[in-house]
Amino acid sequence: QLNLTTKYIGQEIYHYSEVDSTNNVAKELAEKGAVEGTIVIAESQRRGKGRRGKKWLSPSGGVWMTIILRPDIPTSQAPLLTLLTGVAVAETLTHECGLDVGIKWPNDILIGDKKVCGILTEAIARKGGLDYVVVGIGIDLNVDVDEFPPDLRKGATSLKNELEKEIPGEKLVQNFLLNFENLYQNFKEGQLSEILNQWRSLSTTIGSTVEVKKRGGTIRGEAVGITRDGILILEMDDGSLRKIISGECTHYKR
Ligand code: BTN
Repeated sequence: QLNLTTKYIGQEIYHYSEVDSTNNVAKELAEKGAVEGTIVIAESQRRGKGRRGKKWLSPSGGVWMTIILRPDIPTSQAPLLTLLTGVAVAETLTHECGLDVGIKWPNDILIGDKKVCGILTEAIARKGGLDYVVVGIGIDLNVDVDEFPPDLRKGATSLKNELEKEIPGEKLVQNFLLNFENLYQNFKEGQLSEILNQWRSLSTTIGSTVEVKKRGGTIRGEAVGITRDGILILEMDDGSLRKIISGECTHYKR
């Protein structure tokens, strides 16, 4: 049972033992008018979704959760919600578990070079602009990545694997939601620079040579910054700058 100290995030909680994907359930609820801050949480997901159409393995023991948001922002700013959520997860893992975590642009939370959490933000826009956003958070908490199929095990870790003990999920979720609400409130009040600075200092991407896979091919350059919309800025070999809105990013050296 969650004992929340938040004001509106988690005011309504939908808890399931199993769903296809908490993001899909959240979108259905949002269509029916669910209020901002509504949370969907499931013990396990049959068809958890990752970015770029990938599968997200979601056995019981992990935190599989989606938050419904209705911010009054242009659709172009929706990616910032992914960055903000990453900062909230990173803060939580640092304070709750004493872990040194990093963020790989745009949304992977890493321990060392292994991924422990992924974030999938889906923005639903209508003619008049942004209607609502669902932010899905998947944390490999008390799961054993050794039991994952080889292709999904690669590059993944869990809190249980890192800390060699199980962590109570309720406390982690409570803290995460509190951190999230604070950052989201700041965001809505226009305090963007602070959040971007926090993201930059947690990011292992900035300062690294990265390769970004896009549909049209691969772009390689040095990650030098992010814009105020959360777009990655790469400096190419010839010194020119390129903006990367989305893609799969690999780090080379730092
Ligand atoms: C990624 O890194 O590719 C994003 C993974 C996001 C997984 C979470 S788990 C809860 C929510 N429901 C889903 O189907 N996906 C997200």
